[in-house]
Order: sequence, then C-alpha cells, then structure tokens
Amino acid sequence: MNDQRLEFNRRDCVKTAGPITGAAVISVPPLIDARDAPPSRVSMNILINGKPCSFTVDPRMTLLDLLRERIGLTGTKKGCDHGQCGACTVLVNGRRINSCLSLALTNDGETITTIEGLAVGDQLHPLQTAFIECDGLQCGYCTPGQICSAAGLLREAAQERTELTDDEIREQMSGNICRCGAYPGIVEAIHKVYRQSRGSDDSAAGRG
Ligand code: FES
Ligand code: FES
Repeated sequence: MNDQRLEFNRRDCVKTAGPITGAAVISVPPLIDARDAPPSRVSMNILINGKPCSFTVDPRMTLLDLLRERIGLTGTKKGCDHGQCGACTVLVNGRRINSCLSLALTNDGETITTIEGLAVGDQLHPLQTAFIECDGLQCGYCTPGQICSAAGLLREAAQERTELTDDEIREQMSGNICRCGAYPGIVEAIHKVYRQSRGSDDSAAGRG
C-alpha cells in the first residue's frame, strides 16, 4: 500500500462515492472545536487607584476593556489596540504596561494605577501640572498614556539611578506615540519633573 492510498480517508470516500454511485451523500457534521465553546467566567480581585475591586470576567477580556467598559475609567485610551501606540498605558505595581496587551485575569491580585489615580483630590500630579505648563499636549488623546508612562519612567530612573537626558527620555518614551507631534513639550515636561525630583531646577542639568 503506497502513501497516496494511505491518505485516502473515509471522508474523501464519501465525497467521491456519492456522485459515482448516485447514492445520497451524508453530510458530516463539523467537528466541535473546544475554542468555540463559550468560556466560563472567572473571578478576580484587583486594587484600582487604591480601591479594592472584585469582578467576574471573561478570561479573554483585556485589562484595557475591563478598565474602560466594566469600570468606566475611560481616561485610559484605546488607540491601536495592538500594543503599538501607548495610548492605553497604565501602571501595574508601578511598572508601565500596555493594557491592551494584558489579559485582565493575569492582573489578579495586582495594584493598578490609571490616569484617574494620579492626582490626590484636587491636587494634580506634578507630571499633569508640567504637561499643562510645558504645552505637552494638543488634542490630549495620547496624554493619559504619556503621563502614566512618564510616571513609570521616573520611577525606573529613580530605582536604577539612571541619568535622564532629553535623548534618554525620548528613547524611553518611544512607545508612546503622539499624532499631534507634541513631543518637545512632552520631553520638557518630563525633564522638568525629573529635575524637581532630584531637587535641581537647573534647566541645563542633564540635557541631551
Ligand atoms: S491601544 Fe494599546 S498600545 Fe495602542
Ligand atoms: S496630543 Fe494629540 S495625539 Fe498627542
């Protein structure tokens, strides 16, 4: 028996036998793919902007959709939904991530900070103030992601004792796209807060 005969399976036989013999062809029901079955919902707990929250979620739901659609925190923006623009950046345990690429369920037990959680009451976060003062925005669509990403960057720089020059800021913020091209103001705002955090207001310090 050669290889060709081995590949001639039962379904091929039914397909060809019908027209040849005139017999009725019995349609074979498609195999049920386990991936088509509706997923069971799963419970999870997270701390969002200091508030403990419990949810039952579809395991396929992204963190971005959980924030926007389930919790109503629409400050976090959906741009590309493919991890390419940074509009959806939030902080998970202080580290910046693209929430469109993160399944909500994988953040079970974690601490999430969104743009809504950066200000303290009426007092804006220093980065929010600096973005306003330095014209770090135009339409504002990318701004929540830019500011969350900048907050993560300043934390990383403090932990790793990295010197942040303007070039370094541009490099480290390259995952956050601004279609309005407000980059000069964005870099200036981040550098301003970086200098403030180091207790230096020397505008020339560390410039790249
Ligand atoms: S919406 Fe997540 S990176 Fe663009
Ligand atoms: S301010 Fe409009 S996209 Fe950045």
